[in-house]
Amino acid sequence: MSGSRINDMELRGEATIIRALEPGDAEENLRLRRRNDDFLRPFEPIKASDYLTLDAQLRSIDDAVRAWKDDRAYSFGVFTRDGALIGKVGLSNVSRGAWQSATLGYFIDKDHNGRGHCTEAVGLIVEFAFDRARLHRVQAAVMPHNAASARVLAKNGFRFEGFAPKYLCINGRWEDHHVYSITVERYTGRPVQPDRR
Ligand SMILES: CC(C)(COP(=O)(O)OP(=O)(O)OC[C@H]1O[C@@H](n2cnc3c(N)ncnc32)[C@H](O)[C@@H]1OP(=O)(O)O)[C@@H](O)C(=O)NCCC(=O)NCCS
Repeated sequence: MSGSRINDMELRGEATIIRALEPGDAEENLRLRRRNDDFLRPFEPIKASDYLTLDAQLRSIDDAVRAWKDDRAYSFGVFTRDGALIGKVGLSNVSRGAWQSATLGYFIDKDHNGRGHCTEAVGLIVEFAFDRARLHRVQAAVMPHNAASARVLAKNGFRFEGFAPKYLCINGRWEDHHVYSITVERYTGRPVQPDRR
């Protein structure tokens, strides 16, 4: 992707900053993941047995750097304005060719919920998706009972597309999801010609 080097990639909102994680963030990320383990389990795929170790966190940061360079995924830590790491937001499954689409995922530390951080982080990554990564569409899938997540998407202009039965394997079970998306046309409010790439 042109014009977006991972090391200088930081996007700032009013109360929230997103930037790519670096190896120096691994310990704080491990603490974040450890204190949210029970909170996040009902919303995530089952993790490898060594997931809550420093080695695994370093490897995942390494993997994210490679995926960024290969235009496969764009993953960001979510930070408060005073620099505390409080979550993650990312685009994965980047597909080019006719689709120009990616999948959005996110979480926010349980003790920082309800302060608008996720709404702001999603707004920032959607801006990144369209302005920097030159994608055409961003998709998110939400379990029907996850009202907070659906609200975050609605506040960022995503529209409901449909019901996807048994869509993702979450916490060891195939779970139904609601699929939402936003296209660059909806984001900018005007017709957008396809990039000639
Ligand atoms: C979903 C999640 C990311 C939201 O993060 P957050 O920082 O609290 O989100 P925000 O504060 O930006 O916005 C949350 C919105 O949902 C609303 N909300 C929260 N709980 C709700 C509920 N039970 N029913 C309806 N709305 C709810 C809030 O009031 C707020 O809307 P408002 O600004 O109109 O008042 C966070 O709860 C989380 O990490 N959950 C676990 C992981 C997860 O679900 N990830 C997404 C998987 S699709």
